[in-house]
Amino acid sequence: MNEQQSITKQPVPAETEKGGNYTIDEKNLERQQLLAANLAPLTGRALQCIHLPQKDARILDIACGIGETSRLLAKHFAGAAITAMDIDNNLVQTAKSISVKENANIEFINADATNLPFEDNSFDLVFSRYLLMHVPDAVTILREMKRVCKPGGIVFAQEPDINASNSYPASWAYDKIKEYFLALFVDGLIGRKLPAYFNQIELQNTGSHADVVFEVNKNTVRRMYRLTAEALENALLAKKLATKNEHAAWVAELERIENDASTVVLTHPAIAVWGTK
Ligand SMILES: C[S@@+](CC[C@H](N)C(=O)[O-])C[C@H]1O[C@@H](n2cnc3c(N)ncnc32)[C@H](O)[C@@H]1O
Repeated sequence: MNEQQSITKQPVPAETEKGGNYTIDEKNLERQQLLAANLAPLTGRALQCIHLPQKDARILDIACGIGETSRLLAKHFAGAAITAMDIDNNLVQTAKSISVKENANIEFINADATNLPFEDNSFDLVFSRYLLMHVPDAVTILREMKRVCKPGGIVFAQEPDINASNSYPASWAYDKIKEYFLALFVDGLIGRKLPAYFNQIELQNTGSHADVVFEVNKNTVRRMYRLTAEALENALLAKKLATKNEHAAWVAELERIENDASTVVLTHPAIAVWGTK
């Protein structure tokens, strides 16, 4: 399937504006790579519960970032035709070039999830991960996801529930992760609300899977949190949630923990919910 065939509702603009509520500065792509590495087993376990009827299913990955989820879907559902989209065209271009290098046959486009450029009833699985927490009206996007899903197809969303992130030995910097994330992200507690949203838009047979990472003798979660703290500097300063010095102290403490191999970390849960149209 080529781009022209799948974009049937309206032309995609050359470059869609970045989402206005998205507060993470994604200049350092290693952050998205580490996020994806941490989440891959959690998403993989949730996807074990999803059964698509045919091998050549059509799958849409909403807000694909650098395409880590798209490539995960391509591996998990071998034979499926994957289309992936994101509002940030720089990320879309990066996703494309990584996927070409890795021989993953995925179609990437630049589009806004609130107005998907696809016909009704187009996909067997419509997937999104860590998008809805950043948007002012998650239900609007879920409705769009349902619209482009085929009758009998599956809508799937995986989102965090930022009720705690813990380290041992304990550190104030991990309390700040919760405080700053909840203050900056549109809805950091959206994970627990997903079943209600799925009911609201009348998706059927809702299933769910909650999962965490407990990091021991590894340095991907600890490093990801430090890189995320760096990527939130502008947003924290703009909203006057921290001064430059307070932000620098937070990053320095996260970096100290990152370099202390004896520290263990427990992430907040990622909650996956799915339902049938
Ligand atoms: C935290 S990243 C998650 C990326 C990927 N889904 C993953 O789990 O690895 C959130 C992504 O949402 C994208 N995004 C934010 N608002 C969007 C919108 N309205 N439409 C499409 N993508 C959006 C951002 O550009 C970013 O790539």
